[in-house]
Amino acid sequence: MGRSGEGFEAEAVQPDPDVIDRWIAWGLENGLVEPGVAQRVRILARLASLPRVSGQELASRLGISRAAVHKHIECLRGEGIQVQSVPGSGYVLQPPSDSLVAEAALPLILSLSFPTLPEWLSGWGDELIGLPYLYLPAAPSTNQLLKDQAQQGLPAGALLVTDHQVAGRGRLGRTWISEAGKDLTFSFLLRPEISPTRVHLVVLAASLAVARVVESVAGLEGRVLIKWPNDVLVDGRKVCGILAESSMDMDQVHWVVVGIGLNVNGDPGEKLSGPAVGSMMPPTSLRLRTGRSVPRANLLARTLRELGRELGSLRRGEVSALLSEYERRDWLKGTRVTVRSGPSPGKVVAEGTAAGLGPDGELLVRQANGELREVMAGEVTLTRPR
Ligand code: BTN
Repeated sequence: MGRSGEGFEAEAVQPDPDVIDRWIAWGLENGLVEPGVAQRVRILARLASLPRVSGQELASRLGISRAAVHKHIECLRGEGIQVQSVPGSGYVLQPPSDSLVAEAALPLILSLSFPTLPEWLSGWGDELIGLPYLYLPAAPSTNQLLKDQAQQGLPAGALLVTDHQVAGRGRLGRTWISEAGKDLTFSFLLRPEISPTRVHLVVLAASLAVARVVESVAGLEGRVLIKWPNDVLVDGRKVCGILAESSMDMDQVHWVVVGIGLNVNGDPGEKLSGPAVGSMMPPTSLRLRTGRSVPRANLLARTLRELGRELGSLRRGEVSALLSEYERRDWLKGTRVTVRSGPSPGKVVAEGTAAGLGPDGELLVRQANGELREVMAGEVTLTRPR
């Protein structure tokens, strides 16, 4: 877990143990956090905020025995979090391990998204994404697993993170490859109260949230754009893909699962067999673009905060701010494009010059005859490389 904003331009993250305690109490009450995880999150929040903490202090804060504290510390160590015992003075948290287990990530998520109080309990603010926090060391596809759980009543806001996704799915039936222990692969569940005709805006909101966070990584300011609808690019190379899958009927959205794959500390260039995909440069990662590793739990917490903000705006119907920021990051605008839809290779639905977004987030394409075509969904390729 990170004590600082290391790797980011923005503020440092310093978990406040009292805020964490309140969140965890609420999570326990609502069955969103397991009791053991809850205790370890509280322990870590304390260890992260002080240079050292005695076993006795932890025991009395948590209302458990010193032996129980010791057991929890052993469990944290087993999860790769380094806690040093200093004889006669207590426990010291060692530098961040880049672990994504709940204990490491939740203090950051809760501190960043809701740094003071669970305000939204007494009136809606932003959405909370991250409770329950589900972590799997390895998983086939986080989207698929969450979709299965969504049918069985998993609550909105649930997040599933894996360190090793072995059957990742991309858009249009493609596969998504990520590097074990190096990238971020996660999905979250929404049950949004929006009209089925607006569900596609969730994807635009998610792309914007990711783009903003990627741009807050030190050294990446001004280098982050979005290829409509949901590819986040750094220097014109794809760094993140988003896959949203939903269940709805004519007048109601039952659930939406949004899956995000962000290339963080690996080398995705190796994934490609050919020189370019859809007239795009080969993909990249944050480490390749900045020359430094980026702490993943911190990145995850920042992304969830931005997602919560964007989805809150969407729920309140504030779409124009979303679209105008999106337009500022529109990679396609002014380029010659071909848009296809349907199963690969797809039927051409528009050809011309990308001309920004319409009021509902649709892609506008100026055709050769001067007419403006509105495209709600599809795969865009550049007719000529940039
Ligand atoms: C794309 O660009 O084609 C979308 C890629 C989406 C990948 C993410 S990784 C987490 C989640 N689980 C999946 O199986 N896919 C999404």
